[in-house]
Amino acid sequence: MFITFEGIDGSGKSTQIGLLAAHLRESGRQVAATFEPGDGSLGRELRPILLDLKNSGLCDRAELFLYLADRAQHVSEVIAPALRGGAVVLCDRFVDSTLAYQGYGRGLDLAMLRELNALAVAGTAPDLTLVLDLAPQVGLARAKARNLGAGAQDSEGRFEALALDFHNRVRGGYLELAKGEPERIRVVDAGRRPGEIFEDVRCLVDEKLGGAR
Ligand code: ADP
Ligand code: TYD
Repeated sequence: MFITFEGIDGSGKSTQIGLLAAHLRESGRQVAATFEPGDGSLGRELRPILLDLKNSGLCDRAELFLYLADRAQHVSEVIAPALRGGAVVLCDRFVDSTLAYQGYGRGLDLAMLRELNALAVAGTAPDLTLVLDLAPQVGLARAKARNLGAGAQDSEGRFEALALDFHNRVRGGYLELAKGEPERIRVVDAGRRPGEIFEDVRCLVDEKLGGAR
């Protein structure tokens, strides 16, 4: 079972993955929690390039290929082996991030992005995707406060520095994607307290997992 979490910056994905991983482990399941960009050997090198404010000059196509390179290696090194080993894999961002950010956000062609994503993931596809939906003003304020607290306002701040308009397009993109694939992509209202959001997340995941272990 492969579950991905999506949403604008600061929408609470890491928080919900932490809660869900604990819940699933308590119910006896093997869980692997991972994220993009940056988990795995290549990703560790790519993440700082992708997120540091000093790289604001990256062109859209170079940015795209770095995310895809990260994903291809992440799938073969981390996600596919964990799935083969029987884990429930929880991933913070995956293919829909590229459609939302590089497609709806940057304006690259969606059909082309789908083809390139297919090449990168080599058949590994999420069974369930939860989009944490939130007003960008709120998400960005949370993400900026988190980065400031961690002293990472520059090293992790390249997307947070983009105009609100960009983040509104990304949010709208996620909602469009969900409309196109309502079985796989479920939208959760992320403008509530973590525990309330988690109630919805838990229900959707338990429903998908059914009784199977
Ligand atoms: P993401 O992984 O989507 O960027 P995080 O889980 O890191 O989001 O959350 C961003 C910041 O907002 C963190 O400081 C986190 O503690 C806080 N946060 C997460 N969920 C909520 C919530 N429902 N309400 C208020 N603050 C939240
Ligand atoms: P992340 O660390 O998840 O940021 P946050 O915790 O603030 O949500 O992701 C880093 C940034 O990378 C985020 O702004 C979205 C962007 N991104 C893309 O533009 N395309 C992609 O394919 C991925 C995976 C991420």
